[in-house]
Amino acid sequence: MTAKLIDGVALSRTMRAEVAARAAALRERGKPPALAVVLVGDDPASQVYVRNKIKACEECGVHSIFERYDASLSEAELLARIAAFNADASVHGILIQLPLPRHIDPQKVIAAIATAKDVDGFSVHSAGCLVAGLPGLRPATPYGCMKLLQSTGIDARGKHAVVIGRSNTVGKPMALLLLQANATVTVCHSATPDLAVHTRQADIVIAAVGRRNMLRADMVKPGAVVIDVGMNRNEDGKLCGDVDFEAVRQVAGWITPVPGGVGPMTITMLLVNTLEAAERASV
Ligand code: GUN
Repeated sequence: MTAKLIDGVALSRTMRAEVAARAAALRERGKPPALAVVLVGDDPASQVYVRNKIKACEECGVHSIFERYDASLSEAELLARIAAFNADASVHGILIQLPLPRHIDPQKVIAAIATAKDVDGFSVHSAGCLVAGLPGLRPATPYGCMKLLQSTGIDARGKHAVVIGRSNTVGKPMALLLLQANATVTVCHSATPDLAVHTRQADIVIAAVGRRNMLRADMVKPGAVVIDVGMNRNEDGKLCGDVDFEAVRQVAGWITPVPGGVGPMTITMLLVNTLEAAERASV
């Protein structure tokens, strides 16, 4: 069997067109959707991420407010900017790019963002809503993985999903989203003694570890859906995921490529969250 590809570029394009249409509808009602993006310091990777987020906003007709500060910005100054964005009804989403300089406590910063504007879905309140099955903004990467899974037409209900990784931004919310979709969920991590025992039973595998070739063909059940969240570099500097793609695609039923799978969906879901926040604010 050769797995069908789950095309994150194509799905992103479709979903961004929907975002653009929703943004246009809000603009017509005099309520243009807006995302505030704050970058503190000069981390090179963060600069690229932020640039891509702002570009995506522009392409979809979402207004972006970009504020960039020197790494010497104090925590109090950053909290004051967040308070101003919270109070500004024309701003619907607030994104503070991480990591922050060491003298700023990221938990304090994330907690300061109004829940209704927490488009990263990283706050304890947003996480609690997900745990409790309440409406709320969901972290973009696992939310994007759910959309990729749904795009296959495979219903997660009753399926065994194995999530590899337990980060607050991907693994844990991923498990909760799959649970909400009625999957039976196993979460594996670095202290799981025999990963393959679990992955071989999985109808759905989400690999979110950050280690190349971590999921091999002999660890995958024939026909399984494999979603690769990994973003690693091989020895030639080429982008690759956590999955041994060429081998696993011979066994799996569906697979996301890297690049072109989960990656494009992350910014797309940030835009979707911004639109959801803007629409909720405008009713
Ligand atoms: N740094 C790396 N990824 C992210 C993200 O999704 N959101 C924020 N705020 N910072 C990040």
